[in-house]
Amino acid sequence: MQKLIINGGKKLNGEIRIQGAKNAALPIMAASVLCGENIILRNCPKISDVYSAMRILTYLGCKAGFEEGSGVVSLNAESISCSEISDELMREMRSSIFFLGAVLGRTGRCRITLPGGCDLGPRPIDMHLAALRKMGVSIHEEYGALDCVAENGLHGAKISLSFPSVGTTENIMLAAVLAEGTTIIHNAAREPEIADLAEFLNRCGAKISGAGGGKITVSGVKKLHGCEYDIMPDRIACATYLACAASAGGELVITGCRPSDEENILPVFEQMGCIVHTVDDKIFFSAKRPLKAVAPIRTMVYPGFPTDAQAFVMAALCKAKGTSVFVENIFENRYKHVGGLTRMGADILVEGKVAVIEGVNRLYGVKTEAPDLRGGAGLVTAALAAEGTSEISNVHYIDRGYEDIEKVLSSAGADIKRI
Ligand code: EPZ
Repeated sequence: MQKLIINGGKKLNGEIRIQGAKNAALPIMAASVLCGENIILRNCPKISDVYSAMRILTYLGCKAGFEEGSGVVSLNAESISCSEISDELMREMRSSIFFLGAVLGRTGRCRITLPGGCDLGPRPIDMHLAALRKMGVSIHEEYGALDCVAENGLHGAKISLSFPSVGTTENIMLAAVLAEGTTIIHNAAREPEIADLAEFLNRCGAKISGAGGGKITVSGVKKLHGCEYDIMPDRIACATYLACAASAGGELVITGCRPSDEENILPVFEQMGCIVHTVDDKIFFSAKRPLKAVAPIRTMVYPGFPTDAQAFVMAALCKAKGTSVFVENIFENRYKHVGGLTRMGADILVEGKVAVIEGVNRLYGVKTEAPDLRGGAGLVTAALAAEGTSEISNVHYIDRGYEDIEKVLSSAGADIKRI
């Protein structure tokens, strides 16, 4: 079991290049199943979820290779040989649900078990299944496995989502690209990763319009061809490292990012008193001491404040002067990092969806464990500002979404190592 050892109190100073986006790479890798030719994906993050996606692709009979040094993933799904994803592979990560739409789109059938992933509360897939049924898929559920078959092939449908679910929007797009006729998604998710997936699919010959907005139209085509594509920068990883700098103090230059994707987060850092300048693919960031508490933060679907940023922004606010409030509106159980922060000396009260953070003067290094991916990043963020040494175990959660987090942070001056 690996751990991160962090000696807090060191300011961050330096330059960090942002990795490719986990939540764009995963649906795009699933989308490669729809195409029977070579796909080259550049700027893929070296994270365990990408390796899990590669294992699923290989299991399906696709060719998948990862040149780690260059971050290039090469895929070819010409010889896809099965339309079932093993329970073990499905449980490795929540994102495996994207493969349902892609495998159905390519083969007309798919057998999966209910997805695993971080325990952020119930992760139902009711909207995914309701949408696929509208597109002609019959779904038979037994013993936790779903047998999905489109007897007469997938056909387009008008689908109105009760909630702009990211995964559901992406799954419908994947199932609709090769379907007969046109699919319209109302109340679609607007996250930038959706537009990245659409851009990739259109590069392969799909006909998708409106991605990034609330109404997406997919006109079915007969087949897709191969392409080369650059995965967008990871906007959540970018926000994570800014929160680390806010927490530890110091100055950071972020490169290889897309500041326009951070519009919902940068103002929060400015409210804390940090100085933020953006130019092209760079963010120049300097933290001011002491940080100030901020106005209540409500997590919302894009373009609101992202739920994925809640844990590490909360961590940065633990020593801010004043009281900050979070309302977690997206997931039911996304305060599992509060226990670890409180053990470090933070003063946090959680009541249902609401968390109230009273700034304290000091945090102390402790032994703790990452409860999930972003919660783990939150504990790292706080440990950088704590006095003494912190040991964070369950690092595998953090490795699901962050490429070499200890190398990135130590290159900017943090005293952090993995054992
Ligand atoms: C995606 O998860 C991201 N994961 C999550 O990032 C992110 O937190 C989330 O979108 C919201 O932005 C990937 O892209 C791989 P949702 P997803 O469907 O698709 C409920 C991270 O840290 N819901 O928008 O699962 C669901 O329970 C991860 O990188 C249903 O009720 O999110 C949740 O409460 C964590 N029924 C809410 O909608 C459904 O059929 C948002 O879920 C589907 C979802």
